[in-house]
Amino acid sequence: MTKSEEIFELDKKYYQQGYARVPIVIVEGKGAILKDIEGNEYIDCFAGIATTNAGHSPDILVEAGIQQMKKLFHVSGRFFTIPQIELAQKLSEITPENLTKTFLCNSGTEAVENAVKLTKKYAYSKGHTGGALISLECAFHGRLGYSFSLTANASYKKGFGSYSNAPGVKHAPVPYSYRSKDSEDDCGDVAANRLEEVIDRHTSGDVEAFIMEPILGEGGIIVPPDSYFTQIVRILKKREIPFILDEVQTGFGRTGKLLASEHWGLKPDIMTMAKGMGGGIPIGACICTDEIASKIESGDFFSTYGGNPVTSAISLANIEYIQNSGLVENSAKIGAVFMDGLEDMQKERNLIGDVRGKGLMIGIELVKDQRSKEPAKEETKRFVDHLKNEGVIIGLGGIFKNVLRLQPPLVISEEQAKDVIEKMDKVFVGL
Ligand SMILES: Cc1ncc(COP(=O)(O)O)c(C=O)c1O
Repeated sequence: MTKSEEIFELDKKYYQQGYARVPIVIVEGKGAILKDIEGNEYIDCFAGIATTNAGHSPDILVEAGIQQMKKLFHVSGRFFTIPQIELAQKLSEITPENLTKTFLCNSGTEAVENAVKLTKKYAYSKGHTGGALISLECAFHGRLGYSFSLTANASYKKGFGSYSNAPGVKHAPVPYSYRSKDSEDDCGDVAANRLEEVIDRHTSGDVEAFIMEPILGEGGIIVPPDSYFTQIVRILKKREIPFILDEVQTGFGRTGKLLASEHWGLKPDIMTMAKGMGGGIPIGACICTDEIASKIESGDFFSTYGGNPVTSAISLANIEYIQNSGLVENSAKIGAVFMDGLEDMQKERNLIGDVRGKGLMIGIELVKDQRSKEPAKEETKRFVDHLKNEGVIIGLGGIFKNVLRLQPPLVISEEQAKDVIEKMDKVFVGL
């Protein structure tokens, strides 16, 4: 039995089998390279699901953690600590200027849950209760509580009954231009009109919030057209519906901007963040306007670990590192290298239906035929496996499980990117 097989056996015996795992035991990582227990190296093009944006185990983050751990591991949210408030100040500086007040937590799911609680309290303060929450079809916002209901992917919900369908949650059509009957130009306006229909026909008009990811990650790297953002900002403002922007997956340089909201100049009322915010340390945040924060009463929000000094210190060092070492620019630059290579590849390989994304958040949708667009689910799974055998790790997503997700650490070099493109083409030829 190999060392990996021994771990697989132990996992079967001792770990709940709720994960679809890639059969590799990872023991080390540096930059964009991962090493498995047998000593094989891989170029990582998934970054722990778009999380290790600053690369694996960067010295500067390790040092920030060690220095803080030497001073204080934990004291709980009952006390003031310096790393917590420094991080909150940093988040206020990097997000749109209307966002000022942060709550720190431990994951993206918690960030979304806290955003929902904020909107409920805000609606209550205005005399509205029992209102609706609207998210997009294909959205992913988490797998617990309200975040699970806001996630609109039926394949995750089997067997969870009403737990996956909280009262008041509605889904509006997603502007998914590749699979839309409408032209690329019209698809944004049509989806925005459908949002108004959902509000008018499926709610009492009392909508507590609309939540969306600027680019839908798990749903298959779906980039809404610019017109969609223009329209929804207008609709939400007109109807006074708070806007939650879920930047959990798109934040911290991932899309070639520090935050994806910058691509469209969005100014949401609440923003959720996690993943790339900590570079691999469990942390999340929910930041809102002064007005929304003013409705919170003492005792409404709390988390034992939220704003922990060690995770906060590492997150702050991580954000400063991303800002000051050209990683946002590298994301845009290497993203363009990947896009060029993949668009050329698409001309030769009928399996590639669509290539889309921004910066280092790229989706490659595989179809059995470019005209029929029938999802190539089995081929996508095989592709991921064969590419792993070539020494490259890539993600998989999309509601039809037919989208390759290229989301490497932002430190990936041009040479590594070109190597990945060559290996991808080789795998397409042999698939
Ligand atoms: C947009 C978005 N929101 C929320 C979450 C949930 O984050 P977590 O897995 O940290 O709870 C995810 C996770 O993939 C996500 O992509």
